[in-house]
Amino acid sequence: MLLGFDIGGTKCAVIVGELTQKGDIEIIDKKVLPTEKPVYEMIELLFITAEELMLEHHIGIDHLEGIGISCGGPLSSKKGLILSPPNLLGWDNIPIVKMTEERFKRKVLLQNDANACAVAEWKFGAGKGVDSLIFLTFGTGMGAGLILDGRLYSGIADLAGEVGHLRLSETGPVGFGKAGSFEGYCSGGGIAQIGQFMARESLQIGKKVSFCESIDDLPKITAKSVAEAAYQGDEVAIKAYDLCAEYLGRALAMFIDMLNPEMIVLGSIYSRAKSLIEAKMWEVINREAYFESRDACRIVPAGLGENIGDIAALSLAVMSNDNLKF
Ligand code: BGC
Ligand code: NA
Repeated sequence: MLLGFDIGGTKCAVIVGELTQKGDIEIIDKKVLPTEKPVYEMIELLFITAEELMLEHHIGIDHLEGIGISCGGPLSSKKGLILSPPNLLGWDNIPIVKMTEERFKRKVLLQNDANACAVAEWKFGAGKGVDSLIFLTFGTGMGAGLILDGRLYSGIADLAGEVGHLRLSETGPVGFGKAGSFEGYCSGGGIAQIGQFMARESLQIGKKVSFCESIDDLPKITAKSVAEAAYQGDEVAIKAYDLCAEYLGRALAMFIDMLNPEMIVLGSIYSRAKSLIEAKMWEVINREAYFESRDACRIVPAGLGENIGDIAALSLAVMSNDNLKF
């Protein structure tokens, strides 16, 4: 039996699953909780939830073969520490591996969520059989997981792929504490900021905006409300997604030129809003990337869909135990 924790800025999940004879991962059950309590209370709640799930499914501690924790970074996998994630306020220097090992008496593997998702897509999803793959979370935050020449590359301090921090322009929406960063342009919060900025511009010159009636309503704009308006043909909303797609394309062109990957897998927002993003993104990649590298690279939405975070956390659980193999 495998136990997984998926810790994100918006919600956390506790997952129990199994590694099948064939080497596949099967999800048995999961519970989702909003990430709204102070860090140590939240962790205790996750532990209690795991214990409840185990009890419910008659999984004793002796049946536990591995435990994985997938979490937004920056974090140190080697030290078992969550460092200072921009999307998990107050989760600074948290010794989560030690805490979990003490509670469940098993070896625990902590990894960056993007890295875990990269492994999951590579082993079980869209990237089965490829040799190099870049996974981009593109959700609440923007992080990358890198599979290079057939293995997970995590860098000297487990910080490889912290691409949300890259500055793509001098000014712009804020992400990872930086204006104009990749996470600023390409994340849920970033798209909301772009939508707010463009809606304000229109409202100020007396133009109507279907997803925002007045300046007072600007704070209510979300990536989702902008997407819904764009699907209804709202021009401002379409322009907002175009700007996001422009910067997504620029960043992908750089990754393609730098790493010559066989595949790039894009997570949550791309899966949900592909038709608002795809054309512009490719226009930019075609313009910016070296053509042979571009032609060698496939860009696809995550194959594991809504299950990706669960499979990712359970993949880490498998990796936490040297005797288990996918
Ligand atoms: C973090 C990454 C993480 C991503 C998705 C970013 O803000 O810096 O480590 O992978 O969010 O959670
Ligand atoms: Na990473």
